[in-house]
Amino acid sequence: MVKNITVLKGDGIGPEIVDQAIKVLDVVCEKYGHKFNYTEVDIGGCSIDKYGVPITDEGMSKCKAADSVLLGAVGGPKWDNVDPSVRPEKALLAVRSELGLFANLRPTKLFSQLADASPLKPSIVGNGIDLMIVRELTGGIYFGKRRTEVVDGEKVATDEMTYSEHEIERIGRVAFESARKRSGRVASVDKANVLDSSRLWRAVMHKLAEEYSDVEYSDILVDNTAMQLIKNPSQFDVIVTENMFGDILSDEASMLTGSIGMMPSASLSSTTLGMYEPIHGSAPDIAGMDIANPIGTIMSAAMMLRYSFDMAEEADAIENAVNKALDDGYRTADIYKDGFMKVGCSEMGTIIASNI
Ligand code: IPM
Ligand code: MG
Repeated sequence: MVKNITVLKGDGIGPEIVDQAIKVLDVVCEKYGHKFNYTEVDIGGCSIDKYGVPITDEGMSKCKAADSVLLGAVGGPKWDNVDPSVRPEKALLAVRSELGLFANLRPTKLFSQLADASPLKPSIVGNGIDLMIVRELTGGIYFGKRRTEVVDGEKVATDEMTYSEHEIERIGRVAFESARKRSGRVASVDKANVLDSSRLWRAVMHKLAEEYSDVEYSDILVDNTAMQLIKNPSQFDVIVTENMFGDILSDEASMLTGSIGMMPSASLSSTTLGMYEPIHGSAPDIAGMDIANPIGTIMSAAMMLRYSFDMAEEADAIENAVNKALDDGYRTADIYKDGFMKVGCSEMGTIIASNI
């Protein structure tokens, strides 16, 4: 198959981790007889430096025209004080919104080889951690009206959180469908004891739960979820939640597995066009040092093959190649322990590619 991939390397460690994913994808192409064409587009701070905007219209068109988009990371302290309307993160939100990427899947799995990298006690992670966070990605407070005004002589800032029934229903369906392919449980996370948007969220989820009666459903408040993720993470299968709760909980959940550097994500639309990126940021402090962990990006590329290209066998091959690299004792600095072999970003990419 021929596929066109728009590549957004971005800032910080973005370029080096994306290069490793491409290294792996190229070997997949060779082995399975595919051809992937890559088109690079600047995004984030590097685009601000070149063009004054975090993504150009032309760049956005190239994302829309692709079969899928692969992203590294955006942002960094250099652009912390630019005008909020051209911040690097703006481009990421714009791509999510313009491509209609409403469903963000963030699988959080404890690799058995890294069980001791988890900060939780073995008695807690012993049952394994394998959950899927389904985060709503194009609504809520991220996309509500925003303003800062002066009221009675002082500044007042407002961010609105809005959800409509159809937005909740479509993300709910992604969660229930995903639970059917996993362990059959959905926990819907909200703050229905306080927020109207959460009460509507809960009402829509309850209707869906009746329709998907084969899936075990529960409601859970977001503050309690934050606690339960530490207390007993194995209780969760699929967690579905609104945009900002999902942002926060997915960072928390990723840490249960020892390193945020391992965690991939897929942002899906109602077509096969998706965007794939590690859930971590641009890590400017280690950029260019060849020590970043490329596994989150490589696993994101595997998700791209699985979800956008319907290439399950190829996706399995990448996941197995990552597992073998870990089994063979290779570790990047973030997951390194005595007795293992420390490798850099590029070397880890080469090792995984050679395992395909
Ligand atoms: C994420 C990131 C983004 C988000 C930032 C960079 C805007 O934290 O993908 O989780 O908040 O969605
Ligand atoms: Mg985040």
